[in-house]
Amino acid sequence: MAFPTTRLRRLRRSESLRSLVRETRLTPDALVYPLFVCPGEGVRKEVRSMPGVFNLSVDEAVNEARQTHALGVPAIILFGLPEKKDEVASGAWEEDGIVQQAIRAIKREVPGLVVIGDVCLCEYMSHGHCGVVKARSAPQSLGAAARDALNTASVVSVKNREEKEKAIETLASFAARAAQFDYEIVNDATLDLLARTSVSLAHAGVDIIAPSDMMDGRVAAIRKALDDAAFSNTPILSYAAKFASGFYGPFREAADSAPQFGDRRSYQMDGANLREAMREIELDIEEGADMIMVKPAMPYLDVIAAAHERFDVPLAAYQVSGEYAMIEAAASNNWIDRERVMMESLISIRRAGASIILTYYAREAAKLLT
Ligand code: PBG
Repeated sequence: MAFPTTRLRRLRRSESLRSLVRETRLTPDALVYPLFVCPGEGVRKEVRSMPGVFNLSVDEAVNEARQTHALGVPAIILFGLPEKKDEVASGAWEEDGIVQQAIRAIKREVPGLVVIGDVCLCEYMSHGHCGVVKARSAPQSLGAAARDALNTASVVSVKNREEKEKAIETLASFAARAAQFDYEIVNDATLDLLARTSVSLAHAGVDIIAPSDMMDGRVAAIRKALDDAAFSNTPILSYAAKFASGFYGPFREAADSAPQFGDRRSYQMDGANLREAMREIELDIEEGADMIMVKPAMPYLDVIAAAHERFDVPLAAYQVSGEYAMIEAAASNNWIDRERVMMESLISIRRAGASIILTYYAREAAKLLT
């Protein structure tokens, strides 16, 4: 029945009417708050591109965890900034790794809070990639380049300007060649490190393991390692459809995890692909994922909606650093109403079908919702 019999505005006349017919609701119990843990004591270092988000030492992270719990937010997810980085991501799986320390302290002080451990290697690898890097160009050719460079350097004489300029040019071309060396992120060798990291986090007392690396087969490898280590009750929340995204920029500053060469397109998904996202999710569920995630959230609401339609496992979405930073930047210019846009962005993620939202706004949204 059309106008004038039907008038949709009838149900929009007051806030109580609007609330009565509201289809989607946001509650604090759907939110997860990310924390970045760093070495030291009493450290609260604000992330330049994410106002209100900090690198926190373990003691400060415990305080933040306590406040988060008190606000009615049921869970946090932890990322670590290790003391040192290397080529095997020791900081990710060592018994006294920074995240392991934080888990122990938080589970001791705030036992009711669900602690999720992000499992990835990029924060702990000297090259900033999420897996083991292998040079594809023969190592000898890199070695030869280095030897040539050294020989060239030794003939540089400060007196002979022209020769020096030429030598610098030669060195620069060697450096350029080395910087663009052909490399590969090795899938299967990475799985062992991810599994080892997961077991180590479980030993520290983590409640949920959340792999975000996008290697093939990681969920099965992690499930098996957890089961073998008697952690068969530890659930896996897989970042199943994680897209290679420019929206992670501010996070890489927060977690000091930007790749030193190349990008993540050989392992994270192409942003153009919805059907492939469904395959990623399906495979992760087959491998044993208890919950799945789509990430980023707002540019991929259609992927969230399709996943919600198709799969019956709990579905999470990550409102990532760039989504947060854009809202913050526009709001600080008074170009948008910060609170309104924050709540609107969160409700849109819910409406698309995510039941769990990881967001840097978790605490503020919880405050507004209670
Ligand atoms: C680790 C990881 C990233 C994010 C979560 N886990 C960064 C990346 O893949 O580069 C992004 C979170 C955010 O941007 O808020 N791999």
